[in-house]
Amino acid sequence: MNQDDMKRAVARAALDEIVPGAILGVGTGSTVNFLIELLAQRRDDIPGAVSSSEASTERLKAIGIPVLELNEVDHIPVYIDGADEVTPQGFMTKGGGGALTREKIIASASDRFVCIVDQSKLVNQLGAFPLPVEVIPMAEALITRSLAKRGGTPATREGFITDNGNLIIDTTGLSIEDPVAFEQSLTAEPGVVTCGTFALTPAHRILVAAPEGTRTIDC
Ligand code: A5P
Repeated sequence: MNQDDMKRAVARAALDEIVPGAILGVGTGSTVNFLIELLAQRRDDIPGAVSSSEASTERLKAIGIPVLELNEVDHIPVYIDGADEVTPQGFMTKGGGGALTREKIIASASDRFVCIVDQSKLVNQLGAFPLPVEVIPMAEALITRSLAKRGGTPATREGFITDNGNLIIDTTGLSIEDPVAFEQSLTAEPGVVTCGTFALTPAHRILVAAPEGTRTIDC
């Protein structure tokens, strides 16, 4: 079973998390792309979706699922998204695809976050995956210096502008021992829009695909 097979398997398992008749929160990335393909079979159960990126929005529309603005929706029981790293406690690093800000907003607006990953994403401590931070362009140098002071090696993602018109700074070499404190402190810095540490909006359930099958971790 290769990584794509595992992503497809975990996307299929996530279909059981859908609440029929309710708005679904949909994330971004290659694992979610497999989920969106499968959602075509469940169109009758899904009156609409709130999407975390222009890329997912296009794919949802292509299979005939109406995409709503978050401002039009008052209840999202479940948000399903991938992660770049996730701990068994449900703390995640996200934003490899650059959609972290909208992802965090929808996660915060949803009752439950179901994280879908293959086993390579499960870690005991966050930090091996370079941390994405979305920053307002005028704060690029300021936040770069701050990330270096935190012990990391920051680099602005080349040629990339987020759906919100901002930059992403990716930082390697951070060891994030207390994800809640780290997220609180970094997101408090003026110029930071969001950081890819999801500790204040953790996953409630993780579906982990492995060659021997998909297992569930309730956080
Ligand atoms: C998008 O910004 C990310 O947060 C993705 O959810 C995350 O990178 C997982 O993507 P893959 O499913 O492509 O690994």
